[in-house]
Amino acid sequence: MSATRDHIEYRPLVIPESVDSDDAADFRAMTDIRNAVYRHTSGHDDHSMSAAELLPSYRPEPYEIRLSWLVLDDDRPVGRVGLDLPIETDSRIAYMLIELLPDVRGRGIGTGALELVERAAREHGRTVLQSWAEHPDRPGPRLEPPTGFGSIPADDPGARFFVRHGFSLEQIDRNSAFDLRAPFDEIDRLFERASAAADGYRLVSWQAPTPPEFVEGYAWMKSRMVTDAPSAAIEYDEETWDAERVARNDARAIDGGRLLRVTAAQHIATGELCAFNELAIGPDRTAASHQEDTLVLREHRGHRLGMLVKCAGLRAWRDLVPASPRVLTYNAEENRPMLDINEAIGFVPIAYEGAWKKILEP
Ligand SMILES: CC(C)(COP(=O)(O)OP(=O)(O)OC[C@H]1O[C@@H](n2cnc3c(N)ncnc32)[C@H](O)[C@@H]1OP(=O)(O)O)[C@@H](O)C(=O)NCCC(=O)NCCS
Repeated sequence: MSATRDHIEYRPLVIPESVDSDDAADFRAMTDIRNAVYRHTSGHDDHSMSAAELLPSYRPEPYEIRLSWLVLDDDRPVGRVGLDLPIETDSRIAYMLIELLPDVRGRGIGTGALELVERAAREHGRTVLQSWAEHPDRPGPRLEPPTGFGSIPADDPGARFFVRHGFSLEQIDRNSAFDLRAPFDEIDRLFERASAAADGYRLVSWQAPTPPEFVEGYAWMKSRMVTDAPSAAIEYDEETWDAERVARNDARAIDGGRLLRVTAAQHIATGELCAFNELAIGPDRTAASHQEDTLVLREHRGHRLGMLVKCAGLRAWRDLVPASPRVLTYNAEENRPMLDINEAIGFVPIAYEGAWKKILEP
């Protein structure tokens, strides 16, 4: 193995028409690297996605430019690099990822990738570079974000990489898992209690594509995710959600073979949708499931609607995908209201991610 960055190529990723197209080899290699890196970091395959499942989210869309590179070492694919640039507003934000196979780390390849990413971000007028990475626990000194919630091991190579290159740790996200095979007695009890407290509301649910009668309400709730979830000093642009964006989001799931189910609470008197919860799974229905967005609109908090939609969603999900062993979710470590619900339901922490930020001098 060469000990330098010689023979390293950062090749712009071709987005193929289909994963079976003649020009799809790099996309498939990128997917394999993604899955191998996550397996190595987490010690399990629950984050795996097939190339066909991943492809729809790489198609051009009006809200974001996705720049991607495949990293080759003497023509062997060894890493992937990504830079997402929101274009809805006059954004100064860029989101990046740099993921290398374990056997090529420590040779400056990541540093080279970061130079590339920073150059591209600047070219697009971006001054805030943000990134997330899982940092497996290990003994030794800890790093804490300014929120005061959670910590990660300072000696994790990924954490060292961020710090060395001028990123600050802004927030910790907790990754938790819920065992779909355990008894549901506690969920049933919590569901009954939440139902009793949620007087004046009824549950509705659907699978993507969103039925026309729910599009407007769902779009409004989706738009509140970036404004209402605790984000510490991580920056997000406001997102405008309309029928077209909902349709695109639904199509991305459907085209990738994903099952996306929304459980919502509706205010009976006004018909307004005021709380929702999303569960999703890829085409392999024996794999892990993913808890995606959950939110209760501000004006409707305090009626146990969060607990209601979560419990109702999980109860239905168990019947819908009986072979899926667990559900994974991510929450900000300071998000007590959400963690209280998840902990009561039986989600247990399995890993922690750092949210990192670097201000780029123009
Ligand atoms: C984080 C990650 C991208 C770093 O990539 P990398 O190629 O190993 O990084 P580098 O080689 O540039 O730097 C890592 C170390 O190698 C050392 N190094 C060795 N040879 C080097 C060279 N020729 N040039 C620069 N650094 C070199 C660096 O000094 C650095 O040391 P440190 O850990 O004490 O700070 C990689 O570990 C990875 O893919 N991790 C999993 C995903 C992840 O956590 N990504 C976070 C970024 S999004």
